[in-house]
Amino acid sequence: MKALIFGADGQLGRALQRTLPAGFEVTALSRSDLDIGNETALNRAIDYAGPELVINAAAYTAVDAAEEDESQAFRINGSAPGWMALACARLGARLVHISTDYVFDGQARQPYPPEAATNPINVYGRSKRAGEEALLSSPNALIVRTSALYSAHGRNFATTMLRLLAERDAIAVVDDQISVPTHVASLANVVWALVEAGATGIHHFTDYGTASWYQFACAIVEKADAAGFEFDCRINPVTTAQYDARAARPPFSVLDCAATWAITGTPKHWEEELDIMLAEWMAAR
Ligand SMILES: NC(=O)c1ccc[n+]([C@@H]2O[C@H](COP(=O)([O-])OP(=O)(O)OC[C@H]3O[C@@H](n4cnc5c(N)ncnc54)[C@H](OP(=O)(O)O)[C@@H]3O)[C@@H](O)[C@H]2O)c1
Repeated sequence: MKALIFGADGQLGRALQRTLPAGFEVTALSRSDLDIGNETALNRAIDYAGPELVINAAAYTAVDAAEEDESQAFRINGSAPGWMALACARLGARLVHISTDYVFDGQARQPYPPEAATNPINVYGRSKRAGEEALLSSPNALIVRTSALYSAHGRNFATTMLRLLAERDAIAVVDDQISVPTHVASLANVVWALVEAGATGIHHFTDYGTASWYQFACAIVEKADAAGFEFDCRINPVTTAQYDARAARPPFSVLDCAATWAITGTPKHWEEELDIMLAEWMAAR
């Protein structure tokens, strides 16, 4: 199958290329190859590649910056997926798009199933929901929502923590936002498995378990310490109000992944995936 991936240099884009199953031939485009916010260039790139499958791993992912950059966030996260859907419909290609737990307001106390009502509370979440809405009438589209992605390479919570541990005496980390840290390697494998299963519509996927950012940070500290990474830094739990980030965040955004896990199998607990990521990170140092 001829596949075209957008977001080739992002965390997920890289992992998709590393986990490519047999039988797929991939063209992967980064932002330097193509700005997906340019509709004409996007259509030209899709027509030129002539794919049977498009995977959109590109996104405007700077949650706080999006508050002051609404039109660009909506162009990349809201409009571009719709343009991709139209191009895919023209070519008869399938489209896989990645979305986020931030389409929910976080007021639930049970994990959100795919059909739960959305109510994003920040610009990033609203722009990602606009991207979902642009695909909902496409019969060949698959939307995979996920949360708190991290990997050994790239900018993410885990690599930021590891850098700050070596630089600071203390780090304040929010302890009242609960989601599921998810290793991009497990997400990438699941994206390919869902493609091979012919899945369409909205699917949820995260690793197993739940954690606050503070719990995630403590696990990183404990495991890095056990692996011999030297640092002298305390992690202090703070509330969302104390942290005072620009964008509001949902307090509880755990996704109910049962329907996806029924297809792909139950994933490892996030702490086991963190061990895998840390081993990769230590090996690359
Ligand atoms: N990261 C998370 O915690 C998280 C959580 C839930 C859902 N998601 C979703 O998961 C997907 C993958 O996220 P990720 O963590 O892999 O993101 P990432 O590492 O930030 O990668 C996104 C990629 O998109 C590229 N991009 C941004 N604007 C572009 C444009 N105008 N044209 C072409 N490429 C552009 C970026 O290029 P530059 O590097 O040059 O900016 C980057 O390489 C996204 O849809 C995201 O919304 C992420």
